[in-house]
Amino acid sequence: MIVPVILSGGSGTRLWPMSRPERPKQFLPLTADDTMLQLTARRARGERFGAPIVVANASHAEMVETQLEAAGIAAEAVILEPAARNTAPAIALAALAAPKPDDALLVMPSDHVIADVDAFHAAITAALPLVNDGWLVTFGIEPDAPETGYGWIQTGDEIAPGVHRVARFVEKPPRDRAEAMLAAGGHAWNGGIFLFRADIFLGALASHAPEMLRCAQRAMDAATREGTRILPDAEAFGASPADSIDYAVMEKADRVAVVPVAMGWSDVGSWDALHAISERDGDGNCHRGEVIALDTSNCLLRSDGVRIAAVGVSDLVVVASGNDVLILPRGRSQEIKKLIEAMKR
Ligand code: GDD
Ligand code: MG
Repeated sequence: MIVPVILSGGSGTRLWPMSRPERPKQFLPLTADDTMLQLTARRARGERFGAPIVVANASHAEMVETQLEAAGIAAEAVILEPAARNTAPAIALAALAAPKPDDALLVMPSDHVIADVDAFHAAITAALPLVNDGWLVTFGIEPDAPETGYGWIQTGDEIAPGVHRVARFVEKPPRDRAEAMLAAGGHAWNGGIFLFRADIFLGALASHAPEMLRCAQRAMDAATREGTRILPDAEAFGASPADSIDYAVMEKADRVAVVPVAMGWSDVGSWDALHAISERDGDGNCHRGEVIALDTSNCLLRSDGVRIAAVGVSDLVVVASGNDVLILPRGRSQEIKKLIEAMKR
C-alpha cells in the first residue's frame, strides 16, 4: 500500500498578498478552482493508494479538514505539529503514524503543481520495486537554470528501468556550483517528492539523525488523539532538532535513487512562476477574479475581492487581496522578500 504523506507546513511569503501566514499558498486556488492541497490529495488516489496522512501546522487544522472534506477525501490522519521543525521531523511523525511499518510513503509537498499526473504515476510504478527493496527514492526534474533554491542530484547508473542511483545529492548549492552542474549535464533537480518505506526512512533517521527520531517517537508516544487528528506532545516535539529531509537524510543515506520524470512540475515559487505555468490568453495575460483589462499584454492580474481595471499596460504583475495591492514588473517577483522586510520595519 502506498500512503500519501502531504506536507502542509509552509508559511508562504513569496505569493504575498494572497498567501499569508493564516492562509498560505497550499490553501489557495492558484491554478484551478481547487486549492493546491486539494489538487495534491487528488493526485494520489486510486487502488494502490491508501488514505493520506497530512502533516500541518496546528493553526491550520480546520482549513485542512474543510478542504479535504470538500474534495471528498477522508484522511488516515491529520498530524498537527505544535511547532515547525522542518520536513525531516514532520515526515518522521508521519512514518510513525503509518498503518503498517513497511507501507510505502509518497511524501508530497502540498503546494506543487504537476501537470502530467499520468507521467507522475508511471514514475511511481517504476520506483516501487526498488522502494520495496529498501531504497529511498526521489523524483528528478530536468534543470533549465542554475537554481540555488533546489536540491541537485547527480544521476548515476541506471539500476532498474527508468531508475538511477543517486551519485551525489547537493542541497541548495552556491551559484557557481549550480552553474557548473547545469553546464556539466547529468544532473536533475530534486522535486521534493519522495517515495520510501516508513521503516526504511525511520532506519535512515536512526543512522543519520538519531536525536530527531527519539524526539519524534516520544512526541508520538505521548500524542493526544481526537478522531483522525493526532496532536504530538509539544514538549517532546519542540525538543527536536530542526532540519530538512534533504540535509538530514538524502545527502547522507546510501541507497538513494532518482526517477527522472517530465511531468510539468513546478513548485510555484513566485508570481512569475505562476504566470509561466498558467494558461494565458492570446495576448499572454493570465487573469483571475474581477479583472477588466484593455489593450494589455503579458500581465498577471489577480484579485480575490476588489476590481482591477487596467488599460495599455504590459509585463505587469498586479495582485489584490484584502487591503493590499502588489504591483511589480514581470521578472521581479522574487523581490517580494524585500517588500515584506520593509513592511515589517
Ligand atoms: N508539515 C510541515 N512541517 N511541512 C513543512 C515544514 C514543516 O515544518 N517545513 C516545510 N514543509 C513543507 C512545505 O510546505 C513544502 O510543501 C515542503 O514541505 C518543502 O518545504 P520547502 O521549505 O518548500 O523546501 P524548499 O523549497 O526549501 O526545498 C525543498 O523543495 C525543493 C523543490 O521545491 C527541497 O526538497 C529541495 O531539495 C527541492 O529541490
Ligand atoms: Mg519549496
